[in-house]
Amino acid sequence: MRKLYFIVLAILFFLSFSVLYGQSTEEFFERNCFSCHTIGGGRLTGPDLKNVDQRKDTAWLEKFILNPEVILRGGDPYAAKLLKEARGVRMTRVAGLTSGLVKNLLKFIKEESAKEKTRFAKSALKERPLTPEDIVLGRQFFLGTLPLTNKGPACLGCHSIAGEGFFGGGNLGPDLTSVIGRLGGKTALMAWLSNPSSATMSPIYRKQPLDEEEILPLVAFFKSKSEKNASYMEVHDFNFMIFGFIGLILVLLIFDLLWGKRLRSVREKLVKGELE
Ligand code: HEC
Ligand code: HEC
Repeated sequence: MRKLYFIVLAILFFLSFSVLYGQSTEEFFERNCFSCHTIGGGRLTGPDLKNVDQRKDTAWLEKFILNPEVILRGGDPYAAKLLKEARGVRMTRVAGLTSGLVKNLLKFIKEESAKEKTRFAKSALKERPLTPEDIVLGRQFFLGTLPLTNKGPACLGCHSIAGEGFFGGGNLGPDLTSVIGRLGGKTALMAWLSNPSSATMSPIYRKQPLDEEEILPLVAFFKSKSEKNASYMEVHDFNFMIFGFIGLILVLLIFDLLWGKRLRSVREKLVKGELE
C-alpha cells in the first residue's frame, strides 16, 4: 500500500514536472521567437519554421540559433540564402538561450510542425482592416504629437519620411517612405515593429514596446506613404528652398532697416550740400 502511494506520487511529480518543463519551452518560443517566426503560418520577419529540421541538420540549427550573427557573417551559403530571403534583416542573438533550451526549442518546433493545427500557425498580432483614422493616428505617433503609451521616443527623431517635418526627420535611421514594401508587407511590418530587430531600436523599444494599437496605425501610415511617395524629394527640397528664400528676404529687410537709413541720411545731406 505504502509502495503504491509512492509510485503514484512519483508519477504525478514527473508528469507535472514535464508539463511545466514543456510549457516553459513553449512560453519561451512565444515570447522570444513568435514575433518573427510562425510554425506553418508563412513568413514574418523570419522564415516559417515548419519542418525546419528537414531543411537543415540539427547541429547546424543549434549553432545558428545560439549565435546567428556569427554564422551570418561567416559566409555560410545556406545562411546567405536565408538572409537574402529575409531582405537583409538579420536574426540577432536571443537573450537567455542555453544549448539545452535550444535543443528543446527545436524539439518543440518539430512537434508543432507535425500537428495539423497549432496556435503558432497564425501571427499572434491582432489583425483588423486598416482605416483612414489609423493613418491620421499613425502620423501623430510618428511625429510625436501624440505620445506613445509606453513612452518610447517618436520615430521622427531618427527617421525621415515623405513630406513630414519641414526639413525632414532625423538621420540616424533610414527613410521609411517605402519601408512596408522593403520589409515584405503589412503582417511582416507589424511583426517587425512588435520586436524591432535593429541594434539601435531593439534596446529602446524592448523596454518601451509599441502597443498593438500603435503598431496598426503606424503600419497604415507607412502604407499610405508608400502609395503616394512619388514626389518626395521635390516636396522636401522645395520646403528647404522656400524657407531659404524667405530667410534671405528677411535678412535683406533687416539690413535695409539697420543701415539703409544711415546711408540715406548721409546721401541726403550730401545732395543738399549740408556736409561740409
Ligand atoms: C527579430 C526577428 C527574429 C527573432 C526574434 C528570431 N528570429 Fe529566427 N530568424 C530571423 C530571420 C530574419 C531569419 C533568417 C536569417 C536572417 O536573415 O537572419 C531567421 C532564421 C531562423 C532559423 C533558420 C530557418 C531556416 O529556414 O533554416 C531558425 C531555426 C530560427 N530563426 C529560429 C529562431 C528561434 C528558435 C528563435 C527564438 C529563440 C528566433 N529564431 C528568433 C528572425 C528572427
Ligand atoms: C533612436 C533612434 C530611432 C528611433 C527613435 C526609431 N528608430 Fe527606427 N531605426 C533606427 C535605426 C538606426 C534603424 C536602422 C537599423 C539599425 O541600424 O539598427 C532603424 C530601422 C527601422 C526600420 C527598418 C527599416 C528597414 O528598412 O529595415 C523600421 C520599420 C523602423 N526603424 C521604424 C521605426 C518606428 C515606427 C519608430 C517610431 C515608433 C522608430 N523606428 C523609431 C533608429 C531609430
